[in-house]
Amino acid sequence: MVSSDFAFPIPRRRFLQAGAAFAAASFLPARVSTASDIDERRLTVAPGRAAMLGKDNPETEVWSYDGVFPGPLLRVRQGAPVRIVVENRLDEDTTVHWHGIRLPNAMDGVPGLTQPPIRPGESFVYEFTPPDAGTFWYHPHANSLEQLGRGLAGVLIIEEAEPVAVDRDLLWVLRDWRVTAEGQIASGFGNMMEAGMSGRVGNTITLNGAVPGDQPIRAGERARLRLVNVSLARIMGLRFEGHDPVVVAVDGQPCEPHRPDGARILLGPAMRIDLLIDMKGEPGGRYRVIDDFYEGLEYELTRLAYSDEASVRTRFPEPIALPRNPLPEPDLSAAERHELVLEGGMMSRMMGSEAMGRGMMQGMGGMMGMGQEIWSINGTSMTGDGHAGMPPLLTLAQGKTQLITMRNRTAWWHPMHLHGFSFRVLTRNGAEVPHRRWADTVLMAPEDTVEAAFVADSPGDWMLHCHVTDHQMAGLMSVLRVGDAEQEQ
Ligand code: C2O
Ligand code: CU
Ligand code: CU
Repeated sequence: MVSSDFAFPIPRRRFLQAGAAFAAASFLPARVSTASDIDERRLTVAPGRAAMLGKDNPETEVWSYDGVFPGPLLRVRQGAPVRIVVENRLDEDTTVHWHGIRLPNAMDGVPGLTQPPIRPGESFVYEFTPPDAGTFWYHPHANSLEQLGRGLAGVLIIEEAEPVAVDRDLLWVLRDWRVTAEGQIASGFGNMMEAGMSGRVGNTITLNGAVPGDQPIRAGERARLRLVNVSLARIMGLRFEGHDPVVVAVDGQPCEPHRPDGARILLGPAMRIDLLIDMKGEPGGRYRVIDDFYEGLEYELTRLAYSDEASVRTRFPEPIALPRNPLPEPDLSAAERHELVLEGGMMSRMMGSEAMGRGMMQGMGGMMGMGQEIWSINGTSMTGDGHAGMPPLLTLAQGKTQLITMRNRTAWWHPMHLHGFSFRVLTRNGAEVPHRRWADTVLMAPEDTVEAAFVADSPGDWMLHCHVTDHQMAGLMSVLRVGDAEQEQ
């Protein structure tokens, strides 16, 4: 019921289109691509109301794309240009960032850095050709703590050229909210204590914009389940009772199919995991999906609810790998090396430091103003959201492989995200990461050290930040410049 908007049969449309194109090609001259061929979408950013807490509760006032949370699911074809016209009907500036998509810098949606902010009443036209198939998402990059916090987020699926052989393509957009007894979003974004700890973790979870009910499933099916965590701060650790999910993609990028460590799927803010799940349960059965990331705070997220219908198959084929995306392969023998050291937060070495002291004194227990420096990267605290005049922390030679060592010298977890690129995660605390899995957001445990590599093929100023939004706002943010050209505003 809850997930019905997001349960997709395998699209057949593709075959029909291919057939039509073939027929037409035999007697029409080859067509030159024109503006009208571009897949054009529109998104309106505006306040709205969502019935996300169920019938017994009042509707919740949200800020939304097209009046709904999650925002409209955009399904776009790999390698085909798309144009998205975004109209801002909020009372404040906004932008849209296409998280994880490799696109030209001018389309990256960071106000003041890659584009002018979209003022109230104005529109901005995004246009890009997604090179990679997979599960991505979109959200603002202006006043994110509040804009994402009030519901501005949607999913962008880039479809593989050939449909993947599964019986169902399921999407779970997961997030938490901090709601009041009246069912409204609690104010108080930017609490200093939270910003120095785990960030604004909420008290209510939704799955596809509703308090999770049972998820209808049929025995014997093979499902692709796309998990997207659009929370401000909540990290999830999911277990599927009675099932044996196989990870087939991380942050949209296909990987060697593998079982998750400890049978638990770790999903930090902004991360996506695509699973292949063979429905080996009994017809009529109920199987719990548990989130036990925070110790002592385990809860049942939802249940897989099997229909009474007979199983559609008795034997399952081997797990399949998704087709690889055309990512440039890092050349480690010719890499430029950089180090990024994360410091700050509560219970940390930085607490005694001057910047930390200043930040905490100003705002202890209160609201975070612009420029509260609680965290730092390489000793620099860039704060707030995207804005004009953010100087690059590092300049990277265009076209070169970049090998970045990130050290988390804090007592907290950080999903560290780089715009504009997917990177290979090479090692974690000295141990090789199997198959050097690609990602755009790497979840770092306290004191973790991670090595990652990517080819800096796309010029421009690209943000790198923690996706716990309170952390980003309070200093865990920086800019990497690829190439040396000054960016145009
Ligand atoms: Cu989801 Cu700056 O990113
Ligand atoms: Cu991003
Ligand atoms: Cu963080």
